[in-house]
Amino acid sequence: MVSTPNTAFETKTFPYGDAAIAEGARLITAGQPVAVPTETVYGLAADAVNAAAVAAIYAAKGRPSFNPLIVHVIDLAAAEAIAVIDDAARALAAAFWPGPLTLVVPMRPDSGIASLVTAGLDTIAIRVPAHRAMRALLAATRKPLAAPSANASGAISPTRAAHVLASLNGRIAMIIDDGPTSAGLESTIIMPGDPPRLLRPGPIPAEVIEAVIGAALAAAPGGIIAPGQLASHYAPAKPLRINANIARAGEWMIGFGDLPGDDTLSETGDLIEAAARLFDCLHRADASDCVGIAVARIPIDGIGVAINDRLIRAAHR
Ligand code: TXA
Ligand code: MG
Repeated sequence: MVSTPNTAFETKTFPYGDAAIAEGARLITAGQPVAVPTETVYGLAADAVNAAAVAAIYAAKGRPSFNPLIVHVIDLAAAEAIAVIDDAARALAAAFWPGPLTLVVPMRPDSGIASLVTAGLDTIAIRVPAHRAMRALLAATRKPLAAPSANASGAISPTRAAHVLASLNGRIAMIIDDGPTSAGLESTIIMPGDPPRLLRPGPIPAEVIEAVIGAALAAAPGGIIAPGQLASHYAPAKPLRINANIARAGEWMIGFGDLPGDDTLSETGDLIEAAARLFDCLHRADASDCVGIAVARIPIDGIGVAINDRLIRAAHR
């Protein structure tokens, strides 16, 4: 166990295991948020039924309260207790749960979910995660857990416990460390319906989802339907340049494939590896003593769509 002193909270990091899950469940039951890995990124989880606990997530992240959270549940039956899952949603759940897919569906009026979770919307974003740590926490608390990415609002998402500590040290009581996350990008968000809509590209590419539902995905409409998709989301502290061929003076170069750099997303040009490494590379670039970041061109193909989505947001300021 590694302890780091600070002002409001002493943020303790526990390695994944029975003791970590017992302590995490104790804190969540007491209304506190806990950082825990999922297969996508580390989340900051709290009891979604407890308004004060959800408010504590917003406070720790410094997140604008109009931005709704994803609720994590242990299985489809638990999702159905909270939300209306129609045939289209059920087909997606059957294909991709547990896994990195979030569905935005109508919330049941008697769901019991704190209204702060949905920021007053009548829909709810819900997913069944695959990661053993998040699943153990769901099983131990027997609660739906609201969990945004475990970073200060607007900062790069965490794919390692050390990223969480760097962003939220002193703002939360506990981090469960179970190593780097496998997917590395936040879940794909779909709103089933006519037409079904892609609200956020993610680890499951749009064409894989289209093959399951047998229909083309429409883009997210403008406005606030996925309010967390603010243009400046995922921003590193330094200016970032995308589609770079070579580093300019003072830049930290993140390469890909044949294009080398100070670091690489994937030496072999593997997009899955690049997705898993993206946020870690951005955290390292931010921590370097260079004044800017340059990133090689990433093919807009498969999960490359989601990588480019995150890079464009990181470059926007
Ligand atoms: O992979 C993930 O999804 C991670 C892990 C921790 O599960 N979570 C995550 O949460 O990325 P967050 O809060 O960083 O992003 C949630 C996104 C935001 O863009 C938010 O606006 C959108 O989901 N969202 C939540 N509820 C919504 C709703 N009812 N309608 C539309 N968008 C919604
Ligand atoms: Mg986030």
